[in-house]
Amino acid sequence: MLLFNNKIDLIKNLSLVNDRTIGFVPTMGGLHDGHLKLIQESKKKCDITVCSIFINPTQFNNLEDFSNYPSSLDNDLEKLKKAGCNIVYNPKNKDLYGDKISSKKFNFGKLACYMEGEFRPGHFDGVATVVEKLFNIIQPSIAFFGEKDLQQLQIIKALVKNMGSNIHVQSVSTVRESNGLAKSTRNKRLSKNGRDEAAEIYKCLVYCKKNKHNGISQLKKHVLQRLTNNKNIELEYIEFVDLEKMTPIKKWKGTNKNAICIAAYHSGIRLIDNIIL
Ligand code: PAF
Repeated sequence: MLLFNNKIDLIKNLSLVNDRTIGFVPTMGGLHDGHLKLIQESKKKCDITVCSIFINPTQFNNLEDFSNYPSSLDNDLEKLKKAGCNIVYNPKNKDLYGDKISSKKFNFGKLACYMEGEFRPGHFDGVATVVEKLFNIIQPSIAFFGEKDLQQLQIIKALVKNMGSNIHVQSVSTVRESNGLAKSTRNKRLSKNGRDEAAEIYKCLVYCKKNKHNGISQLKKHVLQRLTNNKNIELEYIEFVDLEKMTPIKKWKGTNKNAICIAAYHSGIRLIDNIIL
């Protein structure tokens, strides 16, 4: 496995790839089984797998979240090596941003208006800024993104369209702990007890899927009450949305695919999850 810290060397190396396909897995490190599934998918579909590890400062709208974001480079590199990743790109801010660490302004329309777009102002501009830079450097055939960050996934698809690029964005289903909690780098900050309590978020999503016939407003009430009963969980939003548009729906629409998305805090740690119906 090759490790690059600067884009010039990486680009030079990638120019030797010729007509082999490049699979790309962008990450912010703190790797868990969810990331490793993305690597596995890339290995199945592409000749060469590139993984980036970069905690992107422009996508954090909360300084505390940024400073507390877990970082574990040696551990990550070991996991990637074991998983058969070919190339790792681990740049410093300067390599990607030069002297000015700032986001480009994008217009993703309604896709970025609700949920993460509403509660994390500027977040998607930061994500799209760094992913565009990474796509331009790595020029993958396929880029792999987890469904846990469902709205991000749709934003990236829109970004690729805006770029006029033919990168295929491949979604990969969420990996969960045995209690249902979605795997996330932020879970590392939860206690064992916290992880069990936080699994209630997924249990609520499963309840909604099973009881779809109860209607959206009833289901929202149920989840609100159930999560409020748990004094360590603070619900930020529960939204029922059209899967493609990421816009809220009030009633189920027969033909469209939908999703239910939740963001909640457990002991100050922000968790998101969703279920697709
Ligand atoms: O999903 C993430 O880990 C990040 O948002 C990404 C896509 C690596 C961009 O920094």
